Amino acid sequence: MDSDTLRKKFLEFFANREHQHTIVPSSSLIPDDPSVLLTTAGMQQFKPYFMGKADPMRDFGSKNTVSVQKSFRTSDIDEVGDESHLTFFEMLGNFSFGYKPGEPVSSTGGYFKKEAIGYGYDFIVKELGLRIDYVSVFEGDKEVPADTESEKIWKSLGIADVRRMGREDNFWGPTGIEGPCGPTTEIYVKSSEGKSIEIWNIVFNEFYCNSDKTSRKLEIPGVDTGMGLERLAMVVENVPTIFDTDLFSPLMAMMPYDMDIRRKRVFADHARGIVFLVSDGVRPSNKEAGYVLRRLLRRIIVYGEEGIDIKKAFKKILSLYCGFYPELNANAVDEVLNGEYQTFSRTLKRGMKELGEGSALDAKSAFRLYESYGLPYEIIKEAGGRRADNLRREDFDKEFERHRAVSRKGKEKKFGGHGLILHTGELKAANEEEVKKVTRLHTATHVLQASLRKVLGGEVRQAGSDITAQRTRFDFTFPRKITKEELRKVEDMANSVVERGFDVIMKEMAYEDAIRNGALAFFKEKYPDRVSVYSVVDENGEVFSQELCGGPHVKNTEEIGHITIVKEESSAAGIRRIRATVTP
Ligand code: GLY
Repeated sequence: MDSDTLRKKFLEFFANREHQHTIVPSSSLIPDDPSVLLTTAGMQQFKPYFMGKADPMRDFGSKNTVSVQKSFRTSDIDEVGDESHLTFFEMLGNFSFGYKPGEPVSSTGGYFKKEAIGYGYDFIVKELGLRIDYVSVFEGDKEVPADTESEKIWKSLGIADVRRMGREDNFWGPTGIEGPCGPTTEIYVKSSEGKSIEIWNIVFNEFYCNSDKTSRKLEIPGVDTGMGLERLAMVVENVPTIFDTDLFSPLMAMMPYDMDIRRKRVFADHARGIVFLVSDGVRPSNKEAGYVLRRLLRRIIVYGEEGIDIKKAFKKILSLYCGFYPELNANAVDEVLNGEYQTFSRTLKRGMKELGEGSALDAKSAFRLYESYGLPYEIIKEAGGRRADNLRREDFDKEFERHRAVSRKGKEKKFGGHGLILHTGELKAANEEEVKKVTRLHTATHVLQASLRKVLGGEVRQAGSDITAQRTRFDFTFPRKITKEELRKVEDMANSVVERGFDVIMKEMAYEDAIRNGALAFFKEKYPDRVSVYSVVDENGEVFSQELCGGPHVKNTEEIGHITIVKEESSAAGIRRIRATVTP
């Protein structure tokens, strides 16, 4: 069974008539949650549902969902090269939000331990024909009791080897500083080499972990599971490492025969990560996700010198994955590689020469190599050999942060008091003129969303947005490409709102009242109890658009200026993306 069949089998198993889960497309690797850098798990996009801040029945028509989520974990970057660690991976997961004890199990009732474990068992044993080696459950501690219920359920299914393990292994979450968390039960199977590997983590979100590490019981518990596709493929395809699965083997086969195996694996992992990060809009830079991308790029550029055609490798990855991920963008990947290659290749040789000489490397001298020649930590650590023995990532990162803090201070001064506006991760502007432009684009985005819904129907829902001083980018749910004719209708409708000069009115109210009145809320956003609602209202007081929003907005739509939709494309499966500009 190949990996594509595995993805489909998983989604179909949970979406079938018996299990009734709604298939939700993977969200972007760039999360809407500003407290995390990249999407690290399937539950990321569902956090508001676990916290009772968003309604799954409204958004998915079910309390149960299933997804194949693009995920990226920087925490494992130093482990990549062994048999099973990756930065980018695909996470299969099923989720249930809101199980009420006593309610019948169904798409409206949600489910909990008995069903979650039963589904896990059925999928692994009956669907895939694998043998469970053993399972683990939470052993309990001062705060949370031992999970004897899961233990009993596994035994009733005929699994004799149930091991109790501690918090380190069998307690998940929260992501970020606070959030849902709970005990887990994990499924282990034997690899072709006879080693036991963990393949499926089933989390019972029974608690809410506060930022001070205390926790309270959640009124409505949920289920969150995560199973790495690569590891599952490894055991299903009965191969010794994830790099021998069909997800990687065509790529591994392109690398020089005599190249070190760890370096081959790092190349394969990083090249795949780059293709997905770039396609979701990350661009190389010296901060946050852009810095992660830059490090991956530079490392493969250095490894490429051993005789790998990087462009060909990217093409291979695109051909392997574009069937399931239509958002993959060959042109963007090509452009980003060319750009980074140009910047880096100028200094690479000199940097490597300097790295080959001199005395022991510490965080300071390593950081100087990064600053002068752009050599990332990984390259310095590896190519520095014995001289880098005492160099540690934490020290390098500290040095990096210290320098960034100094340069940030310098920049804030330059903007002379206007400062940086960052509004729920949506608005980015640096001076007064940009703030005005961004404000116009912000209202234009509301007008466009309302126009899209009127032209294409109510299934259009915001799936993300990003506004800069140049343009607005708006992602929304819609199952197919939008025709030119439809786009023109949307644009004309939006511009007639501009021309007729509708008032934009802000009202504060309780969240529940806003939703009851039909105001649109971005389902991934966490809203406070009292919210501001912005309405665009016509001459007769009829509401054209109504959204929960922090603003800022123009007072009247005539201030927006002419709206032009410059692009319409796919952003992910089931998600379309438009870009629009405004001109005076
Ligand atoms: N959220 C469960 C996992 O990532 O394993």
